[in-house]
Amino acid sequence: MSDLQKKHAGEAAAARVEPGMIVGLGTGSTAAWFVKALAARGLADLRCVPTSEATADLARELGLTLSTLEDTPRIDLTIDGADEVGPGLALIKGGGAALLREKLVWEASARCIVIADSAKVVKTLGAFPLPIEVVAFGHKTTANRIADVLADHEIAMPARLRQAERGIVRTDGGNVIYDARCGAIHDPVRLADDLKLITGVVEHGLFLDLADEAIIGLDSGVDVLH
Ligand code: 5RP
Repeated sequence: MSDLQKKHAGEAAAARVEPGMIVGLGTGSTAAWFVKALAARGLADLRCVPTSEATADLARELGLTLSTLEDTPRIDLTIDGADEVGPGLALIKGGGAALLREKLVWEASARCIVIADSAKVVKTLGAFPLPIEVVAFGHKTTANRIADVLADHEIAMPARLRQAERGIVRTDGGNVIYDARCGAIHDPVRLADDLKLITGVVEHGLFLDLADEAIIGLDSGVDVLH
C-alpha cells in the first residue's frame, strides 16, 4: 500500500474532471486524494455526489458543492477506489463499507474511473475478502445462506461479520457487512448473481462491467488500463 501511488492516481483522475460536471465522489483513502485534488482545481459549476458520509464531510470541508442522487440522478463521471482490480477491470470494493452507495452512484454514471495503487492489481479476484452488505435483521440466518452459496462455489470459509473496536460495523444505511475469504473467485459473474438472490443480502462488493478505465498510481506517474 503506497500513499504516494494513491496520491498520483487521485491527482491524475482529478485532471479528467471538466467544469459543469456532475461528479460521483468515491470513498476511501485513494478517493480522498482525488477529492482533495479536485477541490484544489477550483472548477466552476461542479456538483458532487458523495458515496459516503465520510466523503461528504471531506468534500464539504474543502468547499465542494454537494448534491444527492435524488437531486442529480444522472452523473457524468464517478471516480472511486477499489480493493482489487482484476482482469477486464472487474473489481472488489467495499473495504470501506460504502459498497451500496458506491454501486448506486457508479450505476447512475455515464463514465466510471477506478483509481488504485499498483498493489491492488491482481490476476484473479478474491485474495481480498469479498464484502457482502446484509440487512441487520436476521443477519446470522442470512450468513448461513451466504455460506451455502460460497460452498457451492468451492469456497469453504464462511463469511465473517465485520467488527471494529466499537463493535459490529454498521454501514451508512444501517446494515452489517460480512467479509468472505474466497481465496480465488473463478466465476465472479455467477457468484455475483448467486449472492444477489439471497434475501437479506443488500449488495456485494463485486463491481463487474462498471469501470471504464483504471488509473493505477505508480511511484512516479500513473498507468492507465482499459
Ligand atoms: C470503500 C471502497 C474503497 O474504495 C476501497 O476500500 C479502497 O480503499 P482505499 O483507497 O482506502 O484503499 O470500496 O467501500
